[in-house]
Amino acid sequence: KSAETEKYRPIYHFTPDFGWMNDPNGMVFHEGVYHLFYQYYPDSTVWGPMHWGHAISSDLVSWDRKPIAIYPDSLGYIFSGSAVFDRENSSGLGSIENPPLVAIYTYHDMEAEQSGATDYQYQAIAYSIDQGISWDKYQNNPVLPNQGIKDFRDPKVMPWTLENGNPGWLMTLAVMDRIQFFSSENLLDWKMESEFGQNQGAHGGVWECPDLIPMTAPDGSQKWVLLVSINPGGPQKGSATQYFIGDFEEGKFTPDDQLIRWLDYGPDNYAGVTWSNVEDRHLFIGWMSNWLYAQEVPTEKWRSAMTIPRELSLFEVNGTLLLQSSPAAEMKELRRKTYPLSQLQTTLPSEGVELEAQIKNEEEFSILLENELGEKVLITRANGLVSVDRSIAGQVDFHPDFPAVHSAPMSWESESIRIFLDASSIEVFINDGELVLTSTLFPNSPWKTARFSENLSDIVVYELNYED
Ligand code: FRU
Repeated sequence: KSAETEKYRPIYHFTPDFGWMNDPNGMVFHEGVYHLFYQYYPDSTVWGPMHWGHAISSDLVSWDRKPIAIYPDSLGYIFSGSAVFDRENSSGLGSIENPPLVAIYTYHDMEAEQSGATDYQYQAIAYSIDQGISWDKYQNNPVLPNQGIKDFRDPKVMPWTLENGNPGWLMTLAVMDRIQFFSSENLLDWKMESEFGQNQGAHGGVWECPDLIPMTAPDGSQKWVLLVSINPGGPQKGSATQYFIGDFEEGKFTPDDQLIRWLDYGPDNYAGVTWSNVEDRHLFIGWMSNWLYAQEVPTEKWRSAMTIPRELSLFEVNGTLLLQSSPAAEMKELRRKTYPLSQLQTTLPSEGVELEAQIKNEEEFSILLENELGEKVLITRANGLVSVDRSIAGQVDFHPDFPAVHSAPMSWESESIRIFLDASSIEVFINDGELVLTSTLFPNSPWKTARFSENLSDIVVYELNYED
């Protein structure tokens, strides 16, 4: 980062060098490398003809930007999707000696949309036989044509055992106000299995970017978690990600209950999904923005960052299963200098910091961040709510919905807090991610001091950076 010259450029969050970014796409782990693709428009800082940008990492926290992976073409813009390692070369797009990485994405045909058609989104495939660096489009695209429904997108594919016992694939697709599941033996021919959700969950907006994740509950039983991003209609207005917990049997998802659950109660975590081909861990990253104002935020050369990587798991509170989003363990690799505090106030050493504390009286606490201009962010727990107040946090006037207090209900004890601060964001994790609030922030000068309420103890401030 050239922090001196580039206002708001994060120290440790992923951003494109320049241009517009939205959803993370095609995350796949392959030969020791985490691939991160993303919705990208290089020619402007607002949304436009979508490409898949590309970055790689060996540790999830330091990213190398790569050339654009997939370009739009005559079939349309390249919308969101996923990628898998086709180990057995079921698609025939590589070979057994050199199995391909296969990306499954949505084409959005802008011309068809503008001429009034309804079938302008369909699923297609690209593949790589050089470890994800260069991608060729499959010749007979699309692989899953449209059924006449306008919103038909964001395929998330995973390995799955077919009804006949053969190894195959399962696609989870967002279709307007519901999810459709499709199965395939070869990633090329798809058969519909079932539908879910028309009468379930939150429906304040269109459903997008789903992910179906097999997870182990604390009692050892196997559950399935279905992430569904929704825009608008989130708990803080605009975009947010809801999730369902249930069972997935014979190609059909059945939720355990009718509860509406939110992955993150902050305004700025959208369209996130998990990495494929990772054993034993569910690694998640989200787009750290909100469609309400994403195209108006005051960065100049680029727009939007990703969240920090998080590890998803299930926990139980008062008899209810919920999803926990912990900062990925790799985040500790970013800790450079440590400043244990003996008093309740400190000067922040950098724009990239982590604050950690234990909460003694779980009923209430507060942390106040302030800069030299008197701009403030207040993080509190009071009256059963955990809140982040960014209403006077610097530049807030670019959109009427930006300055606000964002609150989350919390009915159980808060024991610890970790806060990740960067040049233009704050991510608050209570009890290692049992409750999360993610917000972008645009202070006119960097945060300078942090003040902690008296019931916070064991306070440590870490400087975070992936450079030495
Ligand atoms: C979600 C989304 C996806 C779509 C993509 C287009 O933010 O609307 O549904 O594929 O963005 O850029």
